Amino acid sequence: MLGLYVHIPFCKKKCFYCDFVSIEYLEEIVNNYLKALQAESLKYKNEKVDTVYIGGGTPSVLSIVQLEKLISIIKTNFNVSNIQEFTIELNPESTTKEKLEFLYKSNISRISFGLQSIFDDNLNILGRLHNYEKFKNAYYYAKEIGFININVDLIYGIPNQTLQNWTDTLKEVINLDSQHISLYPLTVETNTLFYKKNVEPNTDLQAKMYTLACKILKENNFKHYEISNWAKEKKYSKHNKLYWQNQEYIGLGTSAASYYKRYRYKNNTNVLKYIENIFNNKNIVIEKEYITDELYKKENIMLGLRLSEGVDIEYFKDKRDILNKYVMDKMLVIINNKVKFTEQALFVSNTIISDLL
Ligand SMILES: C[S@@+](CC[C@H](N)C(=O)[O-])C[C@H]1O[C@@H](n2cnc3c(N)ncnc32)[C@H](O)[C@@H]1O
Ligand code: SF4
Repeated sequence: MLGLYVHIPFCKKKCFYCDFVSIEYLEEIVNNYLKALQAESLKYKNEKVDTVYIGGGTPSVLSIVQLEKLISIIKTNFNVSNIQEFTIELNPESTTKEKLEFLYKSNISRISFGLQSIFDDNLNILGRLHNYEKFKNAYYYAKEIGFININVDLIYGIPNQTLQNWTDTLKEVINLDSQHISLYPLTVETNTLFYKKNVEPNTDLQAKMYTLACKILKENNFKHYEISNWAKEKKYSKHNKLYWQNQEYIGLGTSAASYYKRYRYKNNTNVLKYIENIFNNKNIVIEKEYITDELYKKENIMLGLRLSEGVDIEYFKDKRDILNKYVMDKMLVIINNKVKFTEQALFVSNTIISDLL
């Protein structure tokens, strides 16, 4: 399997918590960015890809003409004849009926909505531009025209959010009858307005919210297949699973990461510099690392433990003592030669993973 990720680094406005690479939408810059993506694609002429994921930033901020250009760049430069999944991320405020119809006609098979909360006061605190009504209009129209694989992103631990608010959010989202839900604890990164304002998430409350979500989603037939992801009817994200299974992918665009022919790369994180360098035939790669067998083993542990299917015990040969300790502490279990997290360990998984590397 080989994935293709395309980064669209444009948003209408920066959310107060976000440190993803994105700048304000300006038509002319986007048009130049698309030309740069076309040029970068030539490096991979006709490579066969199994999944495509257009993420951001805000891909839905592009006009239909720009979306058409973007999809055509992907379809003409890569072999998509056997593609298994084609996802695009959408923000409710910039998703129109016309864009949804266009995406459906273009064979986009999966959409991912950034909802974050069903409460408008939470959305205002986060600096989001949509309200719940706007999301519902976009979501139900997407279902009406035929999308059957829709993800909804939520954030928990928003300032002032209570356990009751979180329970109501989860129940409401379950009633929307989507096939996939991603839940992220609010993190405050440097370079964000939340950081400047000293917003500090309450991690104890977030841990309670996570445990509650695991319970409520399980009762409603969602399978918890990855630390932050739940799906019904086996509608797992094929593209994201490919990352966690340590398979290769090509990343196009500014700040995009690739894992290709055993090398990991990262592209320039400055949007204008990325465009300029492509236009002047200059290097756009800012990091490049060969993945040795030893690194590959470590990555398999780090990424694979995120999945409920777990990691082959053979990867832990020289870590048996630490592994046994966590098994005794009921943080890890070994079932059919696969090492997996127990549910209580999932929220603190990062610490355990770093101990095992
Ligand atoms: C990078 S965003 C891109 C999608 C889209 N622009 C949006 O905001 O809905 C992908 C998802 O990451 C999550 N996310 C981004 N920054 C976060 C943060 N600081 N803490 C928690 N979740 C975050 C949000 O749930 C968001 O929907
Ligand atoms: S959270 Fe999404 S919409 Fe908000 S600034 Fe970040 S990428 Fe843009």
